[in-house]
Amino acid sequence: MSHGAQAKPATARKSQALSGTVRIPGDKSISHRSFMFGGLASGQTRITGLLEGEDVINTGKAMQAMGAKIRKEGDTWIIDGVGNGALLAPQAALDFGNAGTGCRLTMGLVGVYDFDSTFVGDASLTKRPMGRVLNPLREMGVQVTAADGDRLPVTLRGPTTPTPITYRVPMASAQVKSAVLLAGLNTPGITTVIEPIMTRDHTEKMLQGFGANLTVETDADGVRTIRLEGQGKLTGQVIDVPGDPSSTAFPLVAALLVPGSDVTILNVLMNPTRTGLILTLQEMGANIEVLNARLAGGEDVADLRVRHSELKGVTVPEERAPSMIDEYPVLAVAASFAEGTTVMNGLEELRVKESDRLSAVADGLKLNGVDCDEGEASLVVRGRPDGKGLGNASGAGVATHLDHRIAMSFLVMGLVSEHPVTVDDATMIATSFPEFMGLMAGLGATIEGGND
Ligand code: S3P
Repeated sequence: MSHGAQAKPATARKSQALSGTVRIPGDKSISHRSFMFGGLASGQTRITGLLEGEDVINTGKAMQAMGAKIRKEGDTWIIDGVGNGALLAPQAALDFGNAGTGCRLTMGLVGVYDFDSTFVGDASLTKRPMGRVLNPLREMGVQVTAADGDRLPVTLRGPTTPTPITYRVPMASAQVKSAVLLAGLNTPGITTVIEPIMTRDHTEKMLQGFGANLTVETDADGVRTIRLEGQGKLTGQVIDVPGDPSSTAFPLVAALLVPGSDVTILNVLMNPTRTGLILTLQEMGANIEVLNARLAGGEDVADLRVRHSELKGVTVPEERAPSMIDEYPVLAVAASFAEGTTVMNGLEELRVKESDRLSAVADGLKLNGVDCDEGEASLVVRGRPDGKGLGNASGAGVATHLDHRIAMSFLVMGLVSEHPVTVDDATMIATSFPEFMGLMAGLGATIEGGND
């Protein structure tokens, strides 16, 4: 695992216009779920376009450790699932590396089984709060052994018969919603999740696709009630994973910022729970053309043509945060080159990502000369459209704290700032976007170091 390996710094320098057409690797959220649901369902699941990042591969290994048969033939991943309710007890701890999604969703998936399952991860994942998933599992009758503060390593043991619950998700988190629903798959009766603020809905859509009896009702205030009937049959599916909008964000913002750029990004997932960044950038004046919008495998997909644009600062509506939660670091970079001030509120969840992303972003911006203020749950960035003085002439590196999105965001910054931008480590980019360096170089970006 790269995050256990030696750190490799990388430096990005002011680049020529970016141009070309690229295809972004598969969506991470859908890839995790494809391995999980394929591994659980009866019969065969065939997946193309899967993200082969370390995070997703760890989820695949966990499913194999619980009985799923997974192999790759050509471009297709083929999974023979165990059948709902028939996961095997893992013989060793399940190591999720850097991946919160893999770890938290699998806790739900297997935690209610009447055997022990143990969860471990890297230094980043070990610091992240697991109580948000462990608490509803406790209500369902799961016995939990965890390190202080409900941190990893965690061992779960389900009861003989889990209790179905009605759970109101206390924070905007698709991982928590999903963990409860997945626990409900092996629980008799109806498990209900109430989601006051809508988050990405891949679990709901995909479970329905696999044949689960799952309904969603949305009231006049937008509060969603999701009901899942437990112990139903899931049947293997054919899945073509669309490109990850969160990975798309990096070449997209780079193309907006580097003068003269014209980049087309193919096959991007446009599920409305994921497109907050595109909307925000368009409000900032970004020239992003949505081409060939289509429906593929039940998801909205499109190609994006992105041209260099003069951006202006905006106030990002707080309620938009869940639909762009992973994109704030790169939005902050875009804001650093916008005319005027960009205000981002409602960012409390950023503090519990792969790093405390709010302080990691603010520290990195300051190190590279950006005028910004970090609040408890907010970030204010005052931009410099000409990039003058931005970057770090002394070569001091941004502390990435094992966070792939911090590393990629600041490498994008270096493509347009006056001085180069260095990140202290780029190896963990492989958790979500192993092709990043090659793809950016192919567009004309100057980035040295990292995994080269
Ligand atoms: C994810 C949910 C989000 C997101 C993460 C992927 C998912 O996390 O940040 O990258 O696939 O369910 P939270 O549930 O913590 O918001």
